[in-house]
Amino acid sequence: MSSEQAHGFSTRAIHAGQPADPTTGATVVPISVSSTFTQAAPGEHKGYEYARSGNPTRAALEACLAALEGGDRGLAFASGLAATTAVFQALLKPGDEVVANADLYGGTFRLLERVFKPWGITAKYTDDSSAAGFAELVGPKTKMVWIETPTNPLLQILDVAAIAAVAKTAGAVFVVDNTFASPYLQQPLALGPTSSSTARRSTSAGTRT
Ligand SMILES: Cc1ncc(COP(=O)(O)O)c(C=O)c1O
Repeated sequence: MSSEQAHGFSTRAIHAGQPADPTTGATVVPISVSSTFTQAAPGEHKGYEYARSGNPTRAALEACLAALEGGDRGLAFASGLAATTAVFQALLKPGDEVVANADLYGGTFRLLERVFKPWGITAKYTDDSSAAGFAELVGPKTKMVWIETPTNPLLQILDVAAIAAVAKTAGAVFVVDNTFASPYLQQPLALGPTSSSTARRSTSAGTRT
C-alpha cells in the first residue's frame, strides 16, 4: 500500500497528485494552458515537452485517479469512449476476440461492432453475466474479457473477482468499465487476481490538450 493509499478516500480526492505548486505555492493545481514547454537544450526538460504527451494539470488528475482506484498509473482521456478506444487499440490486434457482458453501454457495443469488427477484432456477448456465462464463451482467440458493473442500462451487478479469475485462466486481459460505481463505491483492481494483467478504464474525466 502506497502512502497515498493509507489515507481515506476524501483525503486522496483532494490531495493525491496535488502538492502545492512548486513555483508559486498555489494550493489548487493551476490549469496549464501551454502547448509546448521550453527546454534548456534539446531533450533537457522538466518532465514536459508537448501538452498532448503530458501537462502538469493532466498529470495531477491522472495521479489522483490512480490513487482513488488503487492503481499504479492513471491515464486521462477527453471522453470515456476515447479511453475505451485506446484500450482496444493498445491491447488487441486483428484476429483477437473480446468477450463482454451482453448488457453493455451502447457506445462500447457500437465501437466493437462498427469500428473494431471491420478491423478484424471480434466480440462475443454473454447474456448470462455470471462467471459461468463468461467461462462458456471464452476460447483460444479470447484476448480480453471486458465487463461493466453495474451495467448500463440494466444495472446488473457482476462478480468482478470471479470473472477476473475466468479471464486469468484464459490468459486474457481483464478490463472493468467502472463508470457507474466510480472508485468511491468499487475498486476493481482490489478485486482481481494480483498477478493477472488487469487494465481498467477509469472515469471519463479528462483535460483536452
Ligand atoms: C458504462 C459507460 N461506459 C462508458 C461511457 C462513455 O463515456 P463518454 O460519454 O464519456 O464517452 C458511458 C457513458 O454514458 C457509460 O455509461
